[in-house]
Amino acid sequence: MSNEKSRLLTPDSVFRNPQFRHGGNIYAFARARGVTPERVLDFSASINPLGWPPAATRAYRRALPQLVHYPEPYAESLSTALAAYHDLNSRTVLVGNGSTQLIFLLARALAARRVLLIAPLFSEHAAAFCLSGARVERFFLRPPTFTLSLKRLGSSLTKGYDALVLTNPNSPTGALIPRPQLEELACLCQRVRTRLIVDETFVDWVEEESLKQLAARSPHVIVLRSLTKFFAMPGLRVGYLIGQARLVARLRARLEPWSVNTVAQEVAFACVRDQRFVRRSRTFMVQERAWLAEQLAGLKGLQPFPSRANFLLVRITASALNASSLRQALAREDLLIRTCADFPGLGERFFRVAVRTRQENRRLLNGLRVVLSQW
Ligand SMILES: Cc1ncc(COP(=O)(O)O)c(C=O)c1O
Repeated sequence: MSNEKSRLLTPDSVFRNPQFRHGGNIYAFARARGVTPERVLDFSASINPLGWPPAATRAYRRALPQLVHYPEPYAESLSTALAAYHDLNSRTVLVGNGSTQLIFLLARALAARRVLLIAPLFSEHAAAFCLSGARVERFFLRPPTFTLSLKRLGSSLTKGYDALVLTNPNSPTGALIPRPQLEELACLCQRVRTRLIVDETFVDWVEEESLKQLAARSPHVIVLRSLTKFFAMPGLRVGYLIGQARLVARLRARLEPWSVNTVAQEVAFACVRDQRFVRRSRTFMVQERAWLAEQLAGLKGLQPFPSRANFLLVRITASALNASSLRQALAREDLLIRTCADFPGLGERFFRVAVRTRQENRRLLNGLRVVLSQW
């Protein structure tokens, strides 16, 4: 584990920097391949392979006639539904146009001067804080375990950070920081007056590990959530933030009204009311992830890491192959994987794959077998 300072980026360099690329760009991939986006089997974005709850489709249709009206300006009814879903007070929930909007809102509103990111980490946190003029530094978690040592982090935190950001479970590693350890970290942060921002985009798969209850009552802890992954709707754009009511009110005052459209509000409402779908998704993922991890581990030249989310990080151990060559080779089968060289802290030999349905996972495995047999 080490601590590395990163250069203060200008807004232009942030968006030109390859480090701010994402998975899931099936459009660019399909264009480059000369195929339609529908042909792409996307393992690069980690979306629930069971799709969205059936009630979401009905809600979508029901919402269409309402498009002649403005949506609720701050999705107040949805905030109440999300709060009920999590057993929270509705004043502690703020809904946004995907969690990405809230990441940028937070960076602007907190006006942090110095921020520590626990890396590897989703790139938009660095982008948002850089754009707001903060100096961004990283604390690296290292393979093979990617575990967090509070002692090491604690001594870094004494250097005076305004905010500490981490994802739990981590993306792209899939490693989980257990809740008791995070609670300890929250105490540490409070002592050194550092705000703790926990991006829980993937925590729906291990809901009991969420820090949401603590965030709702502590002024220095903020949790970010999203419907994108678990409810399989990256195209709809719904995310939310959980924090102490006073902080949420302050943030709401800085959020653009009507950020979340009517259809998105209605569909999201239906999603969180479908408990059967939630249970079915979790059971499916535990089983399918274990199966896929075992199959990947059985392929000579690949080492998957343990994950508590709906994806697996894999290291290539085959001598001459790197993830970008692997990506290119799999592309010939219209299979898209997420290479991880642009995540500071990982390198050329790491890639991430979503856990999809059995049939789709078999297609990936077949593709991998072919490529590995040729190297
Ligand atoms: C860790 C993490 N946080 C946030 C996001 C953004 O999600 P949203 O679609 O809610 O903006 C992503 C998307 O990939 C992510 O991986």
